Amino acid sequence: MSDLLLLGIETTCDETAAAVVRRREDGSGSILSNIVLSQFDEHAAYGGVVPEIAARAHVEVLDDVIARALRAAGVTLADLNGIAAAAGPGLIGGVIVGLTTAKALALAARKPLVAVNHLEAHALTARLTDSVPFPYLLLLVSGGHTQLVCVTGVGRYEKLGGTIDDAIGEAFDKTGKMLGLPYPGGPAVERAALGGDPNRFALPRPLLGRPEPNFSLSGLKTAVRLEALRIAPLSDHDVEDLCAGFQAAIVDVVTDRVRYGLRAMRERGHAPSALVLAGGVGANQAVRRALHKVAADGGTRLAVPPPELCTDNGAMIAWAGAERLALGRRDGLEFSPRARWPLAEVDA
Ligand code: KG4
Ligand code: ZN
Repeated sequence: MSDLLLLGIETTCDETAAAVVRRREDGSGSILSNIVLSQFDEHAAYGGVVPEIAARAHVEVLDDVIARALRAAGVTLADLNGIAAAAGPGLIGGVIVGLTTAKALALAARKPLVAVNHLEAHALTARLTDSVPFPYLLLLVSGGHTQLVCVTGVGRYEKLGGTIDDAIGEAFDKTGKMLGLPYPGGPAVERAALGGDPNRFALPRPLLGRPEPNFSLSGLKTAVRLEALRIAPLSDHDVEDLCAGFQAAIVDVVTDRVRYGLRAMRERGHAPSALVLAGGVGANQAVRRALHKVAADGGTRLAVPPPELCTDNGAMIAWAGAERLALGRRDGLEFSPRARWPLAEVDA
């Protein structure tokens, strides 16, 4: 198997993205182009993603985003070894748009199709940016998912723990919305937290010290809401303090849960080559800083893609497609889009 050149298409949420990535025979990779068009403006007025609006926006811009990705990489469809698209999980309208487009291109250009699990793409990105060998502990924290996963190979994912209520990104988004910050809440809360006092409000740290590495965020979110109601109307300063308090609680919860996750992985007989942080919340600097220390204390290192590869993008889909294609995996044109598709159900 020689070098592989893949186009990747991502449309599972509110980013329309396409990229071209090369995977070399030695397993290393490089990004030739990475075009991401965010629909922030379309959804901002609603304070969250509206699925129908998202699907229509993907239809309108996807062809152009793909053309730009190919042009920026200096390649044509004929140069590719395969076409990858996120086939789920996500908002089904958007997934249909991306996967159907990929199928049409694969058919027209006679190239293999790879139907990629969006979570698997987040899970494997650190191998593109950081050449992380298996096995590793994955902390996947995005708008829809919060889980600790023992990754032992492509398609080999054992979930060690996850959230029993909200995802961490969702908690950031809801907190931002509650405090009147712009959508999406994650980056806005992080910015506001910079100027705030994390110790002004006593906020809960749910599940701290529990051996199973699960998460619970809804109590923290409610506590922020109750404090906000108690001191309303809120000044800018109050909002900064609430954001700082919320983010500090998240950091405490995440570091504690990851400590137990590393332990759970070792108990299963796997020595992690790294702690890999993936998903949109991985863009958060406070979380990244704290996890560097947890990884070092736990005898390993933190591997985290640059922020623009933590949030949704086409390069991660192209890379996951290349990793699968390198193992001889490809999918038929009958592959159906999936709204729900847990990592544990990805074929090895
Ligand atoms: O992975 P992603 O782009 O999309 C999903 O697959 O969900 O993650 C988006 C999530 C959103 O909840 C967003 O608020 C959060 O990641 N996020 C952040 C930051 N940047 C994005 N959360 C905290 N701090 C950030 N800097
Ligand atoms: Zn994502």
